Formats: sequence, C-alpha cells, structure tokens
Amino acid sequence: MDQTAHTHADTFTAEEWKRIDEIISTYAGKEGSLIPALEEIQGVTGFLPESIQRYVAGGLGIPVSHIYGVVTFYSFFTMKPRGKHHLRCCLGTACHVRGAKRNLEKLERTLGIKAGSCTDDRMFSIEVVRCLGACGLAPVMTVNDDTHKQVRESQIGDILDTYADSQDG
Ligand code: FES
Repeated sequence: MDQTAHTHADTFTAEEWKRIDEIISTYAGKEGSLIPALEEIQGVTGFLPESIQRYVAGGLGIPVSHIYGVVTFYSFFTMKPRGKHHLRCCLGTACHVRGAKRNLEKLERTLGIKAGSCTDDRMFSIEVVRCLGACGLAPVMTVNDDTHKQVRESQIGDILDTYADSQDG
C-alpha cells in the first residue's frame, strides 16, 4: 500500500509498516482473522493506536468500529505505547499513604516521561493503577511480571537499572 497514505508514518518505521502490510496480506479474506492479525501487528508496533486500527480496517475490509471494539475489549491489546519493560505504579490508597506518589515522580524524573507514556526508545513505559492486590506490602509496583514491594524512592534507580541492562530479546 502507498506509504504516503499512512497518517502516522512518522510514528512507525518503514520496516514496521512493511511488516504490517505483510500481516494484513496474510490474513486478508480469511475468516476469524482479526484477533490473530491484531496480535501480530501489536507484536510489531507494541500498541494499536487509531491510525493502525483504521489501516487494518481498510486492509481487512472490516469496519473500524468493530476493530475498536475488539481492541478495547481484550486487555492484552493496548492503544497506548508500551515499552519493552512496562511499569505499573500503584497509587491506590494503601500505596498512596506509604509514599507511592514520590516513587512515581522519581520514575517519571528518571525516565524523562510522564505516566501513561513510553520512552522514545520504547524501553520503558509507565502506567498508574489503583491496586495491585498487595496492599499489605505497599507501596507496590510491577515491572513486566515482577512485583516489587515496599519500594522506597531510593530504590527506584536500582530497580530500573536491573531492567535497562536486559536489552536483549
Ligand atoms: S493499594 Fe497498592 S497494592 Fe493495593
């Protein structure tokens, strides 16, 4: 497809758009193809913003409203960019009273991004959540599948360093 037609061409690389086109060609015209196609595309781009949803809608001949419904229904799809290492910082009551806000601010300062966004190199993203189910060990944050409990502001740098080193994969 014509690359100039991409409204967010600057967000993704030419190589990523090529992969998206390949995925769309693989699934076009096949029944039940939307979810696997979206999964593969998210594997390439990391997230499924509206521009991608519109593009997939055109490519697969599926109404964009239907695609939006699927993306917002399944929690493994995301419309916001996520980094390779996705941080969830709990600001629920138990965590809040034990200093979670300071932890969040330290995360934001250290990574140079605000909660809800992703670093330019797509290594880290931050999400604020309301409870991670470990209130007794507040303040709590998770990095990918790892849970960090009773986190102090002074530990944030070391926690991030652990993941910044694992750039492989
Ligand atoms: S309020 Fe943070 S884990 Fe429950």
